[in-house]
Amino acid sequence: MIQISPSILSADFTRLAEEVRAVERAGADRIHIDVMDGRFVPNISMGPFIVEAIDSLTDLPLEAHLMIEEPDRYVGVFMDAGADVIIVHQENTPHLHRVVQSVRERGIQAGVALNPATPAHVLDEIIDELDLVLVMSVNPGFSGQRFIDSVLPKIRQVRGSITDRGLECDLEVDGGVNADTAPDAVSAGVNILVAATAVFKHPDGIANGIRMLRE
Ligand code: DX5
Ligand code: ZN
Repeated sequence: MIQISPSILSADFTRLAEEVRAVERAGADRIHIDVMDGRFVPNISMGPFIVEAIDSLTDLPLEAHLMIEEPDRYVGVFMDAGADVIIVHQENTPHLHRVVQSVRERGIQAGVALNPATPAHVLDEIIDELDLVLVMSVNPGFSGQRFIDSVLPKIRQVRGSITDRGLECDLEVDGGVNADTAPDAVSAGVNILVAATAVFKHPDGIANGIRMLRE
């Protein structure tokens, strides 16, 4: 069963409540919240207040994708704000094991994201502890970029490890996902699709954006 996780980065923030209700009505499985600090990535987006606000609007699981320096200093506030899944990047988290443990100790799911140039094998010693792996299919920072096809072998590799080790871990892809690129990502092994533009900026509206992805 493939899940759809709309990223609110492309939502209309003057109508955030309606946008969240619209994706919920259209059958979204979770909501993806892109947190950017202007340092780890060249853009600044939103923080824990937005997670808290969205948490008050919906019962859908919220995933906080932390594209920030020193994420270990902030995972606590995002958990307090209501995130159900915390995703940190491997590239800037030297004490990955400690961060993952501290998240799971609170009964919250822990995920690790890999940038396009980061190989799958960096997860070899931690994947058994993870609830989710996020493979970035664009360089993080902005919505509306093109899907990088060369990440597909990495998705296959991560799916291989999950299957070989018999893990329950989710495998998610993020960046440039639309009705054209989703089929390849799904064939390569993802079970969660993150999409901002293809949902919130779909010319025929949010519900059609989600329907096209599902089809
Ligand atoms: C990119 C973010 C993505 C982004 C996806 O840095 O992590 O979640 O919002 O946007 P689209 O779907 O437009 O590529
Ligand atoms: Zn994201």
